Amino acid sequence: MSDAAVTVERLVKRFSGTTAVGGVDFAVAPGEFFTLLGPSGCGKTTTLRCVAGLESADEGRIAIAGETVFDAGRGVDLAANERAIGMVFQSYAVWPHMNVAENIGYPLKVRKRLAREIAARVEEVLGLLDMQGLGRRMPAQLSGGQQQRVALGRALAVEPKVLLLDEPLSNLDAKLREQMRAELKLIQRRARVPILYVTHDQVEALAMSDRIAVMSAGRIHHLGPPEEVYERPRTRFVLDFIGAVNYLACRPVGEEGGRLVVEVPGGRLSLPGGVQVPEGALSLAVRPEDVALGPPQPGAPRGRVTLCSFVGDGFEYHLDAQGGPLRVRAEKNVVVPEGAEVGIAVRQGVLVAADGAPDSEVFAASRPADPDE
Ligand SMILES: Nc1ncnc2c1ncn2[C@@H]1O[C@H](COP(=O)(O)OP(=O)(O)OP(=O)(O)O)[C@@H](O)[C@H]1O
Ligand SMILES: [Mg+2]
Repeated sequence: MSDAAVTVERLVKRFSGTTAVGGVDFAVAPGEFFTLLGPSGCGKTTTLRCVAGLESADEGRIAIAGETVFDAGRGVDLAANERAIGMVFQSYAVWPHMNVAENIGYPLKVRKRLAREIAARVEEVLGLLDMQGLGRRMPAQLSGGQQQRVALGRALAVEPKVLLLDEPLSNLDAKLREQMRAELKLIQRRARVPILYVTHDQVEALAMSDRIAVMSAGRIHHLGPPEEVYERPRTRFVLDFIGAVNYLACRPVGEEGGRLVVEVPGGRLSLPGGVQVPEGALSLAVRPEDVALGPPQPGAPRGRVTLCSFVGDGFEYHLDAQGGPLRVRAEKNVVVPEGAEVGIAVRQGVLVAADGAPDSEVFAASRPADPDE
């Protein structure tokens, strides 16, 4: 038996004609923060609802903490209240007529626990939420972030084996959302509960997750830690969906000192080696922060700065390069005036088939152990 918090195997869910989930496999490890990330309609909520028991899948198997809660082949399908889960959805409801303690204790009251036990657990949960002493407050007397924590507290009250969270921060304003990301991680650590999280916000997913499953059209394109899906995405879709990217037409010309040399419009670039170079017409894909600007060099591509925007912790440049427009993210100490002619180098990049389909493969070098900055 697996010791995973959640196991999902070959999950399929169809709605009259649409395949919302088209064969999804993943396992959430004990204590893990695991995120389903993808654009609207890719099947995140449907997958989560199947785990919760709010939706019956058509095929596959789901286990929670080793217990099979759904198995299409064997006709197993436990109801939501028979599954050891806690849930918070986007439209989280904190009951306005109950105080904080009553809100958190409510699921225990429904389960007919003793008043003494409920009071003790509510105190414990208030501690996990860092809301000691606020049990008697009414929701209207709480900030949006505190209300959100109460909703989490109610989900934690029953000591679930896993927390299922569907875009729980999307109702909060940008500043609060950022703050709640850290809060949520701290609450998770204190409660030692695994989290299966759903979001379409890649920044949120990268910042919070131990591992991310990037979904498109009911399928997982890439499952891995944040750095991996960002730096070495498996498919063109993942590359495009997570973060910004520049594409330069390129032709590999060989290896030089363990580095891959490619020709792009205007000159040659040298990249970390070890990339398996595919056949056919290629593009070099480079994140804005992996483009390095410097004095123009002979034989290297160059561009003209058309726009320089100060973005607080650095600058964002728009360049008119020989191969087309280029977006560059630079540190604060790299200051180039608009109109200047600059040389272009690349710290790292990946290769893709020119005009590749979203599910086409991305060819990446493993990240060098000692990147030459
Ligand atoms: N009850 C339903 N009846 C019919 N189709 C549905 C139902 N629920 C979801 N779908 C369809 O299944 C697909 C996946 O929907 P789902 O809600 O899982 O997407 P999502 O990834 O959560 O998107 P979002 O980011 O917009 O919340 C969509 O095409 C959606 O229209
Ligand atoms: Mg959804």
